[in-house]
Amino acid sequence: MELLEAAGCTITQYTEKRELTPAQLIELCQGQDVLLSSGPNAIDEDFLKACSHLKGIALLSVGHDKVDLDAATRYGIPVSNTPDVITQTTADTAFLLMLAVSRNAFGMSRSITQGEWQFYDPTAHLGQDLYGKTLGIFGMGRIGFDLATKCKAYFGMKIIYHNRKPRTEAEQQLGAQYVSFGELLKQSDVLSVHAGLSSETKGLFNHDAFAQMKPTSIFVNTARGGMHQEDDLIRALENKTIWGAGLDVTNPEPMDKNNPLLQMPNVCVLPHVGSATVGTRDNMATKAAENVIAVVKGIPMPNILNPEVYLGQYV
Ligand code: DGY
Repeated sequence: MELLEAAGCTITQYTEKRELTPAQLIELCQGQDVLLSSGPNAIDEDFLKACSHLKGIALLSVGHDKVDLDAATRYGIPVSNTPDVITQTTADTAFLLMLAVSRNAFGMSRSITQGEWQFYDPTAHLGQDLYGKTLGIFGMGRIGFDLATKCKAYFGMKIIYHNRKPRTEAEQQLGAQYVSFGELLKQSDVLSVHAGLSSETKGLFNHDAFAQMKPTSIFVNTARGGMHQEDDLIRALENKTIWGAGLDVTNPEPMDKNNPLLQMPNVCVLPHVGSATVGTRDNMATKAAENVIAVVKGIPMPNILNPEVYLGQYV
């Protein structure tokens, strides 16, 4: 806000603690030049058509699955995101969930509140060690790479990954091995999802996928809930097809408070807080503001997602 004000922007802020409806978002954007979108609002064809006057849209996220980038380009609207600054904090959240699940942390904490801590039982509440286990990364981008680096350094984990294309940096620096999706499912002791949500990845972690995983394996998703089928995940956990799950993203969001996953001992769920630290959210806000200011100044957005929109300009 300070950066925007210092750049001479007049700000109209939506401050309600509930999500905007599509009609409200359109209404809010009338008479505005730039949208800084901090929520999961759909920036789809309908919105873009109704708000084609916008000179730019700055997202306060790295994920951009809610944005129809092709349509934005057609309407000549540049869209930016906040890459890099969320990498470590989000990888830390995946690490936290992996470790918490491996030691049943959330479930045991719940059991204390339910009065179940009666005596010291050396054979109860046993978790799993992660030392020397195999970490499977689905989507070896910045966050996947950072998690793999942490897990290799801390637990000496073997790294395997599946990605659109091989990532030599991961192979050279971490000894990571590129495998097919099927092998990723079969070999991973911990499988952590770090890809973007797209038509190719939507619902990919379903009954068939969980059925190929080890009964001792842990599924971690800090990317987008739309990549796993939640009913299939519930069944895979109930049937002990897999051992546990750590989710920072759910399908749908917000998760219903009666969702059975919340009562399972080997499941840890967080409310989409992967990048939620003071420092990271400050850095994201700064980046988003810098992208807005670029639009106001008439220069290219530094974190443009649809650079084609600038074809013929700034050259
Ligand atoms: C991101 O940056 O994509 C986070 O998931 C917050 O939406």
